[in-house]
Amino acid sequence: MPTVLITGANRGIGLEFTKQYAADGWKVIATARDPGKADALKAVPGVQVEALEVTDDASVAALAKKLAGTKIDVLLNNAGISGPRGFAIGEWDFKAWEEVLSVNAVAPLRVTQAFLPHVEASEKKQVVFISSRMASITLNGGGSAFYRSSKTALNMAVSCLALEVKDRGITCTVMHPGWVKTDMGGPGADITTNESVSGLRKVIGGLDISKTGKFFNYDGAEFPW
Ligand SMILES: NC(=O)c1ccc[n+]([C@@H]2O[C@H](COP(=O)([O-])OP(=O)(O)OC[C@H]3O[C@@H](n4cnc5c(N)ncnc54)[C@H](OP(=O)(O)O)[C@@H]3O)[C@@H](O)[C@H]2O)c1
Repeated sequence: MPTVLITGANRGIGLEFTKQYAADGWKVIATARDPGKADALKAVPGVQVEALEVTDDASVAALAKKLAGTKIDVLLNNAGISGPRGFAIGEWDFKAWEEVLSVNAVAPLRVTQAFLPHVEASEKKQVVFISSRMASITLNGGGSAFYRSSKTALNMAVSCLALEVKDRGITCTVMHPGWVKTDMGGPGADITTNESVSGLRKVIGGLDISKTGKFFNYDGAEFPW
């Protein structure tokens, strides 16, 4: 069975990905900042739980080294933060913005660079980045500038990466999971983690190199940039 590595797997969408792939018999390497506190994750049978702080070079390098020789069919960059919202110009908290950019835009590429050899050695060779509809400049309705800009930056970095590694057969895509009932999405969101992840897994299952560099919704529709 294929192998998937998931970041931010201790709650929300990442935890649901872990449950669904594990139930399907995939080998799941599920990562969390603090596995000691990841009780729900550790309760999922048959999952390999590893520590990973995606903003920390040493943490990423240590896990990549530990997993040297392990083929990763799907690298799932899921970890993210919403950061503070509601700032008017003149009040922008630049430190907070830098943190959101660091987690949402820079870290997924740090993780991907470290694990590209593991992905390239696999059969499927897929890197998936959980982005957001809020990254779309076309659909921008304003507000949440830190979060929006971090995901837009992620999208452009992935677009560049996809072009760079296409000849190596590596598929890189960004995906919107829907507005999902998690700590981030809140209880009033549109869909459950089960609906979101079931849809995303179907989209991921249908990926091939012809779809590299694209932005997908969880229902498989292409998203406007
Ligand atoms: N929920 C939505 O409606 C929605 C919509 C669009 C896009 N998304 C995206 O979907 C992804 C998952 O969101 P979610 O709703 O599941 O959020 P969530 O419930 O808040 O979970 C976020 C996960 O990311 C982890 N994380 C945050 N910073 C990290 C770091 N520096 N290193 C490692 N892990 C880190 C968290 O770990 P800790 O528990 O240690 O904090 C947690 O496991 C995110 O990229 C988010 O932007 C969500």
